Amino acid sequence: MDRKTVRFKVNGVEREVSLPPNVTLLSALRDLGYVDVKNGCEKGDCGACAVLLDGKLVNSCLVLAWQADGREILTVSGLGSLDRPHPIQEAFADTGAVQCGYCTPGMIMAAKALLDENPDPSEEEIREAISGNLCRCTGYAQIVEAVEEAARRIARRGEDDR
Ligand code: FES
Ligand code: FES
Repeated sequence: MDRKTVRFKVNGVEREVSLPPNVTLLSALRDLGYVDVKNGCEKGDCGACAVLLDGKLVNSCLVLAWQADGREILTVSGLGSLDRPHPIQEAFADTGAVQCGYCTPGMIMAAKALLDENPDPSEEEIREAISGNLCRCTGYAQIVEAVEEAARRIARRGEDDR
C-alpha cells in the first residue's frame, strides 16, 4: 500500500511519519509514544482515545492519520505535567474522579473541549459533553463534580492572572 509522509504537531512538537492510508490517528499517536491516548474499542464507542484536533474533540480511532496532515493535536499529556498539572487534571485527582484511570485521558480532553467553549457549564451540559466517554468505575458523579471543580479553578486562576 502507498505510504505518504504526514506532518502534524502533537502537544506543540512537530512530528513526521510515513504511513499507509489505513492507519488511524490513534495508532499513529500510540506508535509515536503518546500512550496517554488510550485504545478502548477502536470504533468510536468509548471515547478513551479522544484528543483535540485543531481544538475540536475527536475520537482518534475514527480519524485517519492522513487526515491530520498539517494539523495540531493536543493529548492529555500536552495539557499539563506531574510538576505543572492543568486545573482539570488537578480537579479530577482531587475529587476522586480517577479510579482505574483508563477513561481519564479522554474524559479530561472532553472536559477541556467543553470548558474552552463554555467556562461555566450546568450539570446537564457537563453530562452531555461527556456522553461519548464511557467509564466503568466511577458512576460519573465524581467526574461531573471534577468538571464543575475544574471550571471554578480555571475561573479563579483567570482572576489571579488579572
Ligand atoms: S477507542 Fe476510540 S472511541 Fe473507543
Ligand atoms: S476510572 Fe475506570 S473506566 Fe473510568
